[in-house]
Amino acid sequence: MPVTASGMDKVCFFINGIEYSAGCELPSYTTLNEFIRRHAELRGTKYMCLEGGCGTCVVNVKATHPNTHERVSFSVNSCLVVIFSCDGWEITTVEGIGNRKIGYNIIQKRLNQNFGSQCGYCSPGFVMSMYSLAENNPHLSAAEVENSLGSNLCRCTGYRPILDAFKSIALKDIEELDELTCPKTGRTCTKTCESEDEDWCLVNIQGLSLTKPKKIALADGRLWFEVYELKSVFDILDKVGYESYMLVGGNTARGVRPIKSFPLVLFNISNLHELHSHYMDVNLVLGASITLTDTINLFQDISTRDPNFRYLEVLRAHIERVAHIPVRNIGTLAGNLVLKHEYPDFQSDIFLLLDGVGATVTLVDRTLTRTELNMTAFLNTNIVGKVITQIKLPPFSNHYELVTYKVTPREQNAHADINAAFLFQFGSDRRNIIQARIVYGGIRPTFSHAYVAEAFLKNKNIFNNETLQAALHHLDIEIQPVYDPPQPSPLYRKKVALSLFYKAIIKLCPPEILKPCYASGASSVTDDRPPISSGYQEYDTDVNDYPLTQPLLKREGMIQCAGEAVYSDDIPAIKDEVFAAFVLSTVPKADIQSIDATEALKVKGVITVLTAADIPGMNSFVFPNDALLPEFEVLLASKKVQYYNQPVALVVANTMALADQVKSLIKINYSNIWDKPIVFTIEQALEAPKEENRVKPRQSISPTSRGTNVQKIVKGTFISPRQYHFMMELHTTVTIPVDNGFEIQSATQYTTQLQSAVARVLNVPESFIIVKTRRCGGAFGSKYIRSNMAACASALVAKILNRPCRVVMHLYDIMRATGKRPNSRLDYEVGVDDNGVIQYLDAAWYINDGLSLNENECDFVVGNFPNCYDLTRWKVQTYSVVTDAPTNCFMRAPGSIEAIAGIEHIMDHISMKVNKDPVLVRISNYSPETSLPPLMVTDFLQRIDFSKREADVIVFNAHHRWKKRGINFVNMAFSVEFPSNFIVVVNVYFGDGSVILSIGGIEIGQGLYTRMAQVAARELNVHVERVTIAPSFNFATPNTFGTVASVTTECCARSVIDACNQIKARLAPVRADMPNATWEQIVFAANDRGILLQANSLTGPYTPGVRPYKVYGLAAIEVELDILTGRKWIVRADVYEDCGRSINPALDVGQVEGAFIQALSLWTLEDTVYNEYNGKLYNYRTWNYKIYGAKDIPNDYRIYLRRRSVNPDGVLGSKAVSEPPSCMAYVIVNAIRDAIRASRLDSGYRADEFIPIGVPVTNENVVRAADVRIDEYLLY
Ligand SMILES: Cc1cc2nc3c(=O)[nH]c(=O)nc-3n(C[C@H](O)[C@H](O)[C@H](O)COP(=O)(O)OP(=O)(O)OC[C@H]3O[C@@H](n4cnc5c(N)ncnc54)[C@H](O)[C@@H]3O)c2cc1C
Ligand code: FES
Ligand code: FES
Repeated sequence: MPVTASGMDKVCFFINGIEYSAGCELPSYTTLNEFIRRHAELRGTKYMCLEGGCGTCVVNVKATHPNTHERVSFSVNSCLVVIFSCDGWEITTVEGIGNRKIGYNIIQKRLNQNFGSQCGYCSPGFVMSMYSLAENNPHLSAAEVENSLGSNLCRCTGYRPILDAFKSIALKDIEELDELTCPKTGRTCTKTCESEDEDWCLVNIQGLSLTKPKKIALADGRLWFEVYELKSVFDILDKVGYESYMLVGGNTARGVRPIKSFPLVLFNISNLHELHSHYMDVNLVLGASITLTDTINLFQDISTRDPNFRYLEVLRAHIERVAHIPVRNIGTLAGNLVLKHEYPDFQSDIFLLLDGVGATVTLVDRTLTRTELNMTAFLNTNIVGKVITQIKLPPFSNHYELVTYKVTPREQNAHADINAAFLFQFGSDRRNIIQARIVYGGIRPTFSHAYVAEAFLKNKNIFNNETLQAALHHLDIEIQPVYDPPQPSPLYRKKVALSLFYKAIIKLCPPEILKPCYASGASSVTDDRPPISSGYQEYDTDVNDYPLTQPLLKREGMIQCAGEAVYSDDIPAIKDEVFAAFVLSTVPKADIQSIDATEALKVKGVITVLTAADIPGMNSFVFPNDALLPEFEVLLASKKVQYYNQPVALVVANTMALADQVKSLIKINYSNIWDKPIVFTIEQALEAPKEENRVKPRQSISPTSRGTNVQKIVKGTFISPRQYHFMMELHTTVTIPVDNGFEIQSATQYTTQLQSAVARVLNVPESFIIVKTRRCGGAFGSKYIRSNMAACASALVAKILNRPCRVVMHLYDIMRATGKRPNSRLDYEVGVDDNGVIQYLDAAWYINDGLSLNENECDFVVGNFPNCYDLTRWKVQTYSVVTDAPTNCFMRAPGSIEAIAGIEHIMDHISMKVNKDPVLVRISNYSPETSLPPLMVTDFLQRIDFSKREADVIVFNAHHRWKKRGINFVNMAFSVEFPSNFIVVVNVYFGDGSVILSIGGIEIGQGLYTRMAQVAARELNVHVERVTIAPSFNFATPNTFGTVASVTTECCARSVIDACNQIKARLAPVRADMPNATWEQIVFAANDRGILLQANSLTGPYTPGVRPYKVYGLAAIEVELDILTGRKWIVRADVYEDCGRSINPALDVGQVEGAFIQALSLWTLEDTVYNEYNGKLYNYRTWNYKIYGAKDIPNDYRIYLRRRSVNPDGVLGSKAVSEPPSCMAYVIVNAIRDAIRASRLDSGYRADEFIPIGVPVTNENVVRAADVRIDEYLLY
């Protein structure tokens, strides 16, 4: 059937072969993602950031190319696509390529088989990115696969298994790819669609032959026009006016600068043929709306064919580093340029490149007059009422050289901190510069060309030290970056701008001139890192004990990879449901005078606005019930605002998008606004007046002795940074009023706290609150308490309106309104002997708690600071520091990550001071009771060739001035304690003997359910497939503690064992009477005899046999730095952990890999940038808060679980696994310090100093610490 977009009021498209239309009934802000999830009810496609930054929403599209008219297949971020752009599209979602009914697709299967799905929230997005890739190129190489996943983030796995899964497909031949399932037929793809389905293409061919624009009057008063001729744009604008319109290309620019609400008139220009074609005269003339992907392909083609356009290869390589594939598939050149035009501070790579090569743009106005402008003139021209139609690129002879750079915080999908393009026209001697173009981005809005330096270089031989230094001097004066948080500091940006010029000159310098050690400056990390990474995993299992120790696949893995696993917001639409969003304060501290919702309430679809006055019970989303949660925390500020971006009100609307959109219309009137600096940092709190009582002493360690052989004193400060949890599933709760109470489906790690808090907010008995949690799409501590905000808000609205309410907190709101892993500070003084043995240690730890003392880490700091060392001579005092900021909260390995990093930092400092091998210094400080066997350490170091690699690093550093390597080692003894109760219920069904467990713990990706099934199967001696796990449910497992601190698995396992034993004991008489009976016959008979086939059990700190223990681990890392930019890549990481006798070692490997990567990201990347005057967070988006991507992980990543290990104090001999590996990641900071020291030695700094490095060790902190002088930028 042809998909003719008939009539004036709708667009038509297919999703998984089913036809849909969208028209006047929908508002302009309806995205493809929203349509897929909430209209088509296909919840497999996820969302998180809604700005193209996370990849959870990726789907595949087949559409007709506006230029070639061929049917093309590509991936898009469904969160960025406006539904009205989808006319004639065939959209395939994760459900469409494979599912439990038609069978799974090879990509889904491989991801599951490789343990590539932990919480699973990222999995559908990864699958669809890979699917789209394979659709276009079934013969992908492993390197191409690795390079193509920049669009997708995963917070759990550490990417290694995902890369392995997809590379395994890449290496296979076409036959396996043929396993791809056809979304239309549901059968294996026969690759015959082209002929069969010619009619599918008709609409678009038809569409392209149309000239009359299509018009849709949208539900929110906007007009949508589909135009096929340029003239139509102006004809329409002449009628409706030029005040408020937008030309919609890919609509991806909103991922860079969010659009609160669309202009009144929208033109879809993606079928405007003129803007998408290209031709060559003398120049290459591109239609301005060519997508970045098409540009890449075109440049690749022309650069290899035409010597005058050889330079396009440089542009191609650079554009491949712009955004990521799904954005590049629809994002256009013109859209990028207009973004730069509107926001001159945007570090546009496209503008940079076009300006770098002296390209021009053509603008057309309503009279169809064409004006050609160079890039600078374009920026200064009013473009209202004009369309960019063409971009013209000139040819260059082989006397021209083009070099470009882009310095980013992470390897892929990151905009430039600073970018640069250098075009030099050389004379025939290839030394003298005839003409230079030097263009930078990221300096200041009004600066792109370094005109003074360009003029200076005319007729100069740049390949001598004097000219180079003089040019750098001119650049130094000319480049004056502005302060622009969260961008790196002006100082750094200036230095790197100079470095990039130097790098370009090194790159072009004839080898006979260049001193070999300087050659390392030319390349970037992108060039240096090998294109294919590798992984290695080692563990043992005991076949006799299966299913225990069996590396079984995660139970929910397959449905997660297929998008069938249900998360809290995947519950289908509920009749009458409403959506609520928080309104946040925009002042740090003030009195609230009034809240005026008049404007918001005028908007059609807005239902109500609730404030603290509407809360029937307690205004707190925390119910203080133990030492970790001593205080109430306000749900909605009532009289006073206590921190910047505190929630003040809730706006309720009939869609989530609308609720988020109208928040800004609510006016909060304040008085007594705090106009002095707030107390935001630990240092400010230490200086605050005593009576404010901001620094509160907490747990401590007291020495029992003091050594007398003090030869050296080591003094310093260790800092740990904040970290946002970056869970892929946002804080989500759906509340449904039922009978007298409320049924709540929530993404929480702690159903009991949620129930208690909601009951008090609503002022109803706890028994009225039924809480269910099937799984969390990542949590990492954020859903221990902080997710209660969403839960309480949702329940409050449900109660007041007596309607179901869904709250999914927007990423921006979570990042701004809730706390993070706290930053901390450790001041230490250590007296040591000549071997580095500690004689005394005096330390003060300060933890920045934010507003309340809830989720304070001091206890965990004290528990883990000793690590594997003898603490008898240590004096440590911890302090909670109260600041005017949201309460900071637990994040994976709270306190322990900081504590172990802190002492390992001190150990490195001591080794430096006494000039002794850091390994020996560590071993000589080991505690006799808790230490790792030194043999384990030496075995590990030998195994990983540590000494040889150390020697290799020295050689490498001697030969490379601008690339430096460091290698370092860390050891860990992580303390495991059992904080509270975990309950489990085991049911056996008499009809067939199948078993179901309800677990108090929550499946947050760690594989809890799989392990529990293994334990129950083993205890009851049934096949593991006969055991099912029900969602966590507070009716079955009430009063259970939160799933935190890595002990849930062990506690629940013990409860499962105990409950199974109870059932077995009850069955014993039956078994005795029926010695040859099967399990099924026994349970059937038992039921007949009235025997209860259900049992429950609780494990907690008072359970006999539950004892604290240590988890041991070792890690080594080798890292390479680009000293000129601060960029780094991780050459190799080895992580060894003693997981005891693991219940499921394959899942444990996944935990180790993921935890270690998450913590590497903490120490080297994840910077939160606040305005310390008022506490406003600058980077609360995926655009500017970065976590590691797939190309940031160690290039060679090896995991070893200790063999033949049994933990006598653990359940079934196992050990906790999810948090400890994080604690070893600080090794990267020490390795980086070694690399920096090598550079500083070359710079002539002292050899014996312990270099302070800012954390996270961002590019800027590397450059600062290396502190290279510009006069070292030489060629020989
Ligand atoms: C996650 C992400 C990462 C990114 N990373 C980078 C990066 O690293 N480097 C970089 O340079 N960019 C980056 N970008 C920006 C990206 O390149 C742009 O979003 C994209 O090119 C915009 O094109 P578009 O067609 O989607 O524009 P749209 O969003 O459709 O339109 C943007 C603006 O351009 C106007 N417009 C569009 N076409 C025309 C035309 N022909 N004539 C006149 N006006 C027009 C529209 O009216 C609108 O105002 C990133 C974007 C995202 C979402
Ligand atoms: S939700 Fe679309 S990329 Fe994040
Ligand atoms: S499995 Fe990737 S985010 Fe959880």
